[in-house]
Amino acid sequence: MRVTVSRKAHFNAAHRLFRKDWSMEKNNAVFGKCNNPNFHGHNYELIVSVTGEIDQETGFVVDVKILSDLIKEHIENAFDHKNLNVDVSDFENLNPTAENIAVVIWNKLRPYIEQKNDLEVVLYETPRNFVTYKGN
Ligand code: NI
Repeated sequence: MRVTVSRKAHFNAAHRLFRKDWSMEKNNAVFGKCNNPNFHGHNYELIVSVTGEIDQETGFVVDVKILSDLIKEHIENAFDHKNLNVDVSDFENLNPTAENIAVVIWNKLRPYIEQKNDLEVVLYETPRNFVTYKGN
């Protein structure tokens, strides 16, 4: 009996989508307004889900307080009110698209999730645009 436990979190961050090795024209053609050199912000909504067997002693798949603390320590503290391109080393050479941010979040959290459990990250960049990464 595998059950999924989810925790919602939130952070505000700025970014710019561009490639240093492309011209301004090509960056504008591909990334549009997201290539604004002065950056722009998003209210990111994050849903982290852990799927696994229910522990027979505790009745938990994962202690949601521990999951909440992990997200706060490793994601919110690292990303909230930051400029992802400038302040977060993970994006020094990685375009901070929703896709790449979701993968970075998954990689940061995975070491703290029990191996037998599955981890899924859903990241909303806007209320209508969101990405999902399950580690494969
Ligand atoms: Ni954007």
